[in-house]
Amino acid sequence: MSDGGGPSTAVGRAALPLDAPALRAALRGWYAVHRRALPWRDAADPYAIWVSEVMLQQTRAATVEPYFRRWMASFPTVAALAASHEDDVLSAWQGLGYYSRARNLQRAARTIVADHGGVLPRAYDDLAALPGIGPYTAGAIASIAFGARVPAIDGNVRRVVGRLLAARTDVARGAGARAVEVVAAALADGDAPGDVNQALMELGATVCAPRRPACPRCPAAPWCAARAVGDPADFPPRRPRARPRAVAAVAWLVTDPDGRMLVARRASDGLLGGLWEFPLTPPDATLVDVDTLPAGPALSHAFTHIALTVTPVRAQVAVAVGPMRTVEPYVEWRWLNRKMIDGLPVSTLMRKLLGRFDAFG
Ligand code: ADE
Repeated sequence: MSDGGGPSTAVGRAALPLDAPALRAALRGWYAVHRRALPWRDAADPYAIWVSEVMLQQTRAATVEPYFRRWMASFPTVAALAASHEDDVLSAWQGLGYYSRARNLQRAARTIVADHGGVLPRAYDDLAALPGIGPYTAGAIASIAFGARVPAIDGNVRRVVGRLLAARTDVARGAGARAVEVVAAALADGDAPGDVNQALMELGATVCAPRRPACPRCPAAPWCAARAVGDPADFPPRRPRARPRAVAAVAWLVTDPDGRMLVARRASDGLLGGLWEFPLTPPDATLVDVDTLPAGPALSHAFTHIALTVTPVRAQVAVAVGPMRTVEPYVEWRWLNRKMIDGLPVSTLMRKLLGRFDAFG
């Protein structure tokens, strides 16, 4: 990786219009003073850095902090995570969302135990070959934990660098993405690449905000083409978001005469994979062969691509037998009392439904 040259691109200016060594120094100086004190920072343990980076993929640092602490207490090493029960792993993730991240962490831990002697590999390519580790996470671990001079480009970094370049095209794909990669790679190609990468992320999280960037506080302002040509908030262009698909469902709060409730476990792959919940069906489906009562107003729950509206219904069966037919995506059924349900990994949606159930109980 070099600091100069590179192809011309469709972004505002030619690639590497900025003095990478000078900007790198400014970023490092700023980061040394302004970095937030977060529990995974200064961790010399590559496993802790990996866990933190996976948690941070879709979730803000303030939310991640308590999860991270609990996770490291429950699964302090790769070997401990590999040996754990999937239910415990999902329970520790409960509320963070995107549960495939937790399942992939455990799958990767098992691969590391089987193929790498229980030690996280150092090489970018070996990291990127593990489940759940894409280019961003591989770059973050390799640079932060092992000092490799590779970039780590997440959404914040794309925006920050897109502004440095006054990018007028989408920085998530095509020429815009490549232009960001060239600059981020040049910035990481020097001393302390982990700090430089984290400085860019930190800038995006705390200064170079999507709508109201705090330019007077920004160490990169002298190199920022967006600031030079107009309002930095106008760069890079925002991608129009697809409107989430509206989906309606019925949640079945079914009890037996002993007050036990019917819960079902979702298949491991797919949305909320592996979690337990009161079974959901399409609005016109029946689950048990008895009359139902409404259980209060509908609940709304937003996923990235789905706007779910759930209508809860109650039913009491005389005998605790599960549904007579296969109901997708469920793979396991149990009748459990309230306390036992509290020990299972459940989704945030299920937490809301349990609250509804408690109101009736
Ligand atoms: N976002 C993701 N990883 C981060 C890190 N290491 N520091 C700050 N923000 C982040």
